[in-house]
Amino acid sequence: MRWPAEAIWEAVAPLLPGFTVEVLPEVDSTSTELMRRARAGQAEPVLLVAERQTAGRGRLGRAWQSAPGDSLTFSLGLPLAPADWAGLSLAVGASVAESLHPQVRLKWPNDLWVEGRKLGGILIETASFGEGAGARYAVIGIGLNLAPRTAEGLSTPPAALRDLWPQADAPAALARLFPALVRDLQAFEQAGFRAFHARFDARDLLRDRAVTLSDGTAGTAHGVGEDGSLLVHTAAGLQAVASSEVSVRPAAP
Ligand code: BTN
Repeated sequence: MRWPAEAIWEAVAPLLPGFTVEVLPEVDSTSTELMRRARAGQAEPVLLVAERQTAGRGRLGRAWQSAPGDSLTFSLGLPLAPADWAGLSLAVGASVAESLHPQVRLKWPNDLWVEGRKLGGILIETASFGEGAGARYAVIGIGLNLAPRTAEGLSTPPAALRDLWPQADAPAALARLFPALVRDLQAFEQAGFRAFHARFDARDLLRDRAVTLSDGTAGTAHGVGEDGSLLVHTAAGLQAVASSEVSVRPAAP
C-alpha cells in the first residue's frame, strides 16, 4: 500500500515539532505499541499506522478486529496539557466525523456511526510523562471500517466508509482526516471541550433517543453537558452520565 507519509509529515511537522510518521506492515496494536514506547520514555509526537493488527483493542477491554486493506488502524501519540481533559474523546470524534462525511454521526462517548451501524471507534489512553506541569502523553487510537465485513461476534453490525465514499482506501482516509485532527487536538488543548460542544451536538446520534444505561436505568438522551457528560432524562430527573455503556433502545415501530 502507498501511504501519504511525506504529505502528512509536511502538513503536521510545522504544528508538532519532532513529529514522525511510521507505517508498520504488522503490529499487535498501534495503541499498545505507543503506550509501551511511552512507558519506555518516548515523549515525541508520532503517528503509527499499521496495515495489520494482530491484537487490536477497543474500549472496555474489547477486541478490535480489522482486515488489512479493509480498514484503517492508527494511533497518534503526543504530549498534551489541556487544563481539563473532559470531553477529549468527543472532540476527537467530532473532528474525524467532520473530515470523513456529512452523514457520519457520533454515538456518545466516541463511536462513529452511519445509518444505525458502527463505522469506527476511538480509544484514548494516557501515560504520565516528565515532571509535573500537567502534561501527559496521550495515545489516540482510531479504527475505521472501509469495506463491509461480517457482523459475527460483534455487538453492533459494522458500517463501511465505502458505502459513503466508494473510492475510499486507508491511505486516502488517513490523509483526509489526520491534519485536521492534529489542529483540533491543539484547539482542545487551548480551549477544552467548549470549542467542540456545538460540533458534537450537530452530529449527536443519541439526542432525543430512548437509551438504557449500563446499570439498567432507562431514559431519553438530551445532549451533552459542558464537560462532555451525557445528559439523560430519567424517572429520577436529569442525570449527567460521565462514563458508561449506553445502549439505544430500538424506536417503537
Ligand atoms: C472502540 O470502538 O472500542 C475503540 C476501537 C479503537 C480501535 C483502534 S485501531 C487503532 C488503535 N489500536 C488499537 O488496538 N485500537 C485502536
